[in-house]
Amino acid sequence: CGIVGYVGGQSALDVVITGLKRLEYRGYDSAGVAVLADGGLASAKKAGKLANLEKLLDERPLPAGLAGLGHTRWATHGGPTDANAHPHLDNAGRVAVVHNGIIENFAALRAELAERGHDLLSETDTEVVSHLLAEAYSSTGDLAEAMRQVCVRLEGAFTLVAVHADEPDVVVGARRNSPLVVGVGDGENFLASDVAAFIAYTRDAIELGQDQVVELRREGVTVTDFEGKPADVRPYHIDWDASAAEKGGYDYFMLKEIAEQPKAVADTLLGRIDASGLLTLDEVRIPATVLREVDKIVIVACGTAFHAGMIAKYAIEHWTRIPCEVELASEFRYRDPILAPRTLVVAISQSGETMDTLMALRHAREQGSKVLAICNTNGSTIPRESDAVLYTHAGPEVAVASTKAFLTQVVACYLVALYLGQVRGTKWGDEILAVIRELSQISRQVEQVLETMEPVRELARSLKDKNTVLFLGRHVGYPVALEGALKLKELAYMHAEGFAAGELKHGPIALIEEDLPVVVVVPSPRGRSVLHDKIVSNIQEIRARGARTIVIAEEGDESVVPYADHLVRVPQTPTLLQPLVATVPLQVFACELATARGNEVDQPRNLAKSVTVE
Ligand code: G6P
Repeated sequence: CGIVGYVGGQSALDVVITGLKRLEYRGYDSAGVAVLADGGLASAKKAGKLANLEKLLDERPLPAGLAGLGHTRWATHGGPTDANAHPHLDNAGRVAVVHNGIIENFAALRAELAERGHDLLSETDTEVVSHLLAEAYSSTGDLAEAMRQVCVRLEGAFTLVAVHADEPDVVVGARRNSPLVVGVGDGENFLASDVAAFIAYTRDAIELGQDQVVELRREGVTVTDFEGKPADVRPYHIDWDASAAEKGGYDYFMLKEIAEQPKAVADTLLGRIDASGLLTLDEVRIPATVLREVDKIVIVACGTAFHAGMIAKYAIEHWTRIPCEVELASEFRYRDPILAPRTLVVAISQSGETMDTLMALRHAREQGSKVLAICNTNGSTIPRESDAVLYTHAGPEVAVASTKAFLTQVVACYLVALYLGQVRGTKWGDEILAVIRELSQISRQVEQVLETMEPVRELARSLKDKNTVLFLGRHVGYPVALEGALKLKELAYMHAEGFAAGELKHGPIALIEEDLPVVVVVPSPRGRSVLHDKIVSNIQEIRARGARTIVIAEEGDESVVPYADHLVRVPQTPTLLQPLVATVPLQVFACELATARGNEVDQPRNLAKSVTVE
């Protein structure tokens, strides 16, 4: 979910709505606002996208207000209805609360409140907080203190923001696990799940830590822990360009973000290769002596980032000879994984806030392992809680389906693999140097792919009435196939599955029927040519059974021509780097299919970009 709070001289309603627009990627099941004005509290909320709320506000305007809060929801407890939308009020309508996360003991609290005569109207866990806050306020007369008293009673993960009609110039926030950032302005202050919500007004921010409460007034902010002791805070400056959060002439953020990939890749490499062609990752503060001792690597991530992790495994094991496992973060800690001080855990996350990944890294650190984060969001929770971080420099990614962040995650994974190889000195020293040289070309090659995408778009449009598309790959082409299928599910709502091409004959081949589109990612015929030849046989096997083959193969590879119903060319790269060029057509394919099917490209149904619940 996305949360905004504001106090200051501008119209609180306008600032909150503007902020919510920037945060809608975090959830768009419903939206709501509350403002403090004329000694009272006024609020509005509506199921569906923010536009529905704006329409409601046109029909039934709210006062501008000097303080306010807003919420855009990704439903957990209770469906996406008007009643379940945030904010939630107490029975007297004096307190308004918005919440991101899950309050695990809400059922017990709810029963307790009902016994004391409270009338709860929604199915959400959040509503208990507004009632508890109202009670605590009546005895303390201080909203920040009331919030502290309530927070210690809550179990689970939560970010809360609240206002009370009796304190018309105060907004209070509390944070455990889910993100909350303070924007510090001049005579005005902001609260938000993500700096994007207030970057148009201020670039000075304070990151709230775990278990902290913030009281926001026009003239300043006060941060304490849940006991009321003043807390140490970390102010920082946001260096993102505000225009990076705009569509810049594209119809969708996703199209803009696909187009930005050459720059994102180049920016992620920038300053990390020295004049002699060696990697300099001094920012990774884990000393070389420690890296030399590492005897196992475990990668944890979710969704698209998990696919980047799968690619990393091939690169790490090949260039460093360190055994590497990759695991879905949500599965990791529940199977009692074997972790030791010499295990390096790599947590990959665009947002740096994904709860599953955060919990996995906490578990790893508790077991004494070192954690290296690969992250795109400065100051977010995952890098803050890791031993070291390698930032990807993709810039803000707004479209829910990840594109440029994925490519930069893959680049960062190669950097980690090559750096480990460099530091430890493996027999692949020459290959490592050659690959680093190739990497400096890769941004240009991604650009070349983007220049030749029209036939892919045309093909996508022609398949708009299909129900299923399959994706096949081998080696690093396998995670690429999985990513191609994930993009199609997310965007086109089609049945799409990725398979290891060799596994096809062990089951999935039964799915092949006349004219079924099957995308095949073909590795380079140079280098590991066995791989290539095997997959060419796989293409023949599916074609013989009626599949319509869509073949992604490198320039100059003529062997696939007779078996490709549609051929998509990508530039020649070393096999391990091919995902950087081969994924791009699959992103374009999914985006175009979504448009052809009339789907929302930037905000696919049921999804959220940053999932801060487990
Ligand atoms: C959500 C998004 C995915 C993303 C995943 C991991 O599920 O919808 O697109 O890949 O989270 O996000 P992260 O921010 O940790 O990379």
